[in-house]
Amino acid sequence: RPIVTNQLCAKGKLPPDALPPLHCCPPASTSEPVNFTFPDPTEPLRKRRPAHAGGGAEEHMAKYARAVALMKALPSSDPRSFYQQANVHCAYCTGAHRQAGRPDLGVQVHFSWLFYPFHRAYLYFFERIAAKLLCDPGFALPFWAWDVPEGMRIPEVFVDVASPLHDPIREKSHAPPKVADLDFVRGAEKNLTDEQQTLLNLRLMYKQMVSNAALPSLFLGQPYRAGDPERPGAGSVELAPHNTMHVWTGDQSRPHAENMGVYYSAGRDPIFYPHHANVDRLWECWRGIIDGGGRRGRHAEFTDPDWLDSSFLLYDEEARLVRVTVRDVLDAEKLRYAYDDAGVGLPWLGARP
Ligand code: C2O
Repeated sequence: RPIVTNQLCAKGKLPPDALPPLHCCPPASTSEPVNFTFPDPTEPLRKRRPAHAGGGAEEHMAKYARAVALMKALPSSDPRSFYQQANVHCAYCTGAHRQAGRPDLGVQVHFSWLFYPFHRAYLYFFERIAAKLLCDPGFALPFWAWDVPEGMRIPEVFVDVASPLHDPIREKSHAPPKVADLDFVRGAEKNLTDEQQTLLNLRLMYKQMVSNAALPSLFLGQPYRAGDPERPGAGSVELAPHNTMHVWTGDQSRPHAENMGVYYSAGRDPIFYPHHANVDRLWECWRGIIDGGGRRGRHAEFTDPDWLDSSFLLYDEEARLVRVTVRDVLDAEKLRYAYDDAGVGLPWLGARP
């Protein structure tokens, strides 16, 4: 009983004081969805690089900014526009999309084993749309490496008010050089020195990636099948730093810490995509760290067909509606991207609390 997303989309459950737009269903497709096919294996491998300064990040970030500007310039009816891309997140987190065969039930991609594969598929199409608009077939998303000391601040370009990457609905007191609190709790600023905060962050990373993540269900999230109540349980990193960094980034004076701090609006902040690229990178890291030797594939994943056959509907770079399953997104190389993160390292592996 996999969760199969239906083309039916209804108004999702948004908080009563939500910021508009209040409807987040995608434009209706004029044709039936096509099944996902892998990109050509001869396509250049997109190299996702860190967003923090150094090693050519400026040029990489300038490209990302241009891509966001181009997406923002598309008419809001275009499924590739920034407006619609932000709405994708809203639709999949407020239960707007219906489950096939269960029009009474919405699809919720958080707090379950759908979390990593859904966001990977979402970023995959977002990145390809950006590449297409830039006419740069090798374009890759930057990742916000908040798990390593050099990346624990909001990258400067996001706070430049002239940049398309700026979002006014973000917490101003958390602008750089403020060091992020990866274990942030709203209303409880820790006020530590940078060194203390950095050390706590590294220890949290160790705990979430190693101590609390020995089983697929503990890292990826709990099983969620058609007809089940939503949110059966999140994986370690989904709770923190993923959720905590959403809330830390959002405007603390807003009722739900918009934009980043709440699902319905998170995709409206351009920092969302580099944030999720880092979450996706940590999935790849988790697969390889169990023996401490960087060997890939040591952490076994689910083999349950209910996971593998769960599917989502997303628009691709040609504005075609595509049905993509969990099994389609398990191999990043087949999706023709990789993390250029050798220079970033995994310093938290040495930060066992
Ligand atoms: Cu869909 Cu970062 O949450």
